[in-house]
Amino acid sequence: MEEPHALKTNNGSLTEQVLCDDPLFREDAFSRSDESDDSIFYTTDRFVQHLDSLALATVEKLIGDLVIEENPVILDLMASWDSHIPSSLRPERVVGLGLNRNELSKNPVLTEWCLHDLNKNPILPFSDSTFDVVLNVVSVDYMTKPFDVFREVSRILTPGGLFLVIFSSRMFEQKAVKIWRQSSEEERVLLVEEFFKRAKSFTRPQLFASTGKPRPKDDKYAHLGIPSDPIYAVYAEKKGGKRQERPRHTSAVSHEYPLDPEELRRRKAAVKHTLRCPHCELTLRKWEVPQNPFTQWDVDFMYVCFNDECPYLVQGWEVMKQQGNSGISYRFTYNSYRDRCLSVPVPNLHALKEGIID
Ligand SMILES: C[S@@+](CC[C@H](N)C(=O)[O-])C[C@H]1O[C@@H](n2cnc3c(N)ncnc32)[C@H](O)[C@@H]1O
Repeated sequence: MEEPHALKTNNGSLTEQVLCDDPLFREDAFSRSDESDDSIFYTTDRFVQHLDSLALATVEKLIGDLVIEENPVILDLMASWDSHIPSSLRPERVVGLGLNRNELSKNPVLTEWCLHDLNKNPILPFSDSTFDVVLNVVSVDYMTKPFDVFREVSRILTPGGLFLVIFSSRMFEQKAVKIWRQSSEEERVLLVEEFFKRAKSFTRPQLFASTGKPRPKDDKYAHLGIPSDPIYAVYAEKKGGKRQERPRHTSAVSHEYPLDPEELRRRKAAVKHTLRCPHCELTLRKWEVPQNPFTQWDVDFMYVCFNDECPYLVQGWEVMKQQGNSGISYRFTYNSYRDRCLSVPVPNLHALKEGIID
């Protein structure tokens, strides 16, 4: 194995140097509330999925779409028992690096695996230009020396090789670094882009986001009425290689509204006759307007779209989040007294349903 040299700085690790030199990062940015040895926390086997089934399918599809190499050599960095690699990829080798022996040994796609603590030693135990693809799924939030790790990934990738970092909003809080815990989802995207940029050897990072989709009905958190786990991917290639272009599969944000504005206007004008939601065309439900000292409604009932998969509601989570109101969406509502289309905010999918009177 060639001597890894990418990490030598005058000031210890690259991450330490960034923390010293850059006011963007506070000194304790990569500290955790549980600073005990990671191998202790990860000794416990966790044969669980960290995402709901729709989010997992999104991850698998994204990997399948972006990995265009034939029979690629893949590293699953911070791997467990499932690498989310679709069988259609037919990899030549898949190496898993993580901390739990039982999980890694039961991962069916791994051809090899190793136990290695990245936070103790960010130098990856592989030669230069070994891998066509490095995956890191729902784990970047646990890296305490991310700048070093990203630079190392560029060393072990072949020129033109892909580093695909996928993350969501769930985490083991005690092991996630402070800057991650304290950031919004949008800030986390910027943070991961920063890790790529400072490694200096990647092309401009691309973003994929899939948010605001309805949560699968059989999911264990479905009763909370929250959307499916968001999926963000930030990815880039190691500079210096020329490959076939990867598909620009960069956004599945569900607020990309598919309906022609003229058609929407026509449907809204027809609501008084159809009593159908102009966004999903399902029948509106008669809804008793709650009368309490805090509401100002001068009508007894309105008509509301209670379709949990209506694109208007589904996109609303993302639209509200972008306006700084995470955790809120809205349902299409029709005031038949005034012949007005409006929207009523909802904090989850259950809200307002107790007022349905038809
Ligand atoms: C939330 S799990 C995600 C596992 C897998 N990538 C997936 O998609 O299901 C986090 C993983 O990161 C690994 N990990 C956590 N800290 C690590 C460290 N310091 N060094 C190497 N791996 C680590 C753990 O072994 C664990 O499997």
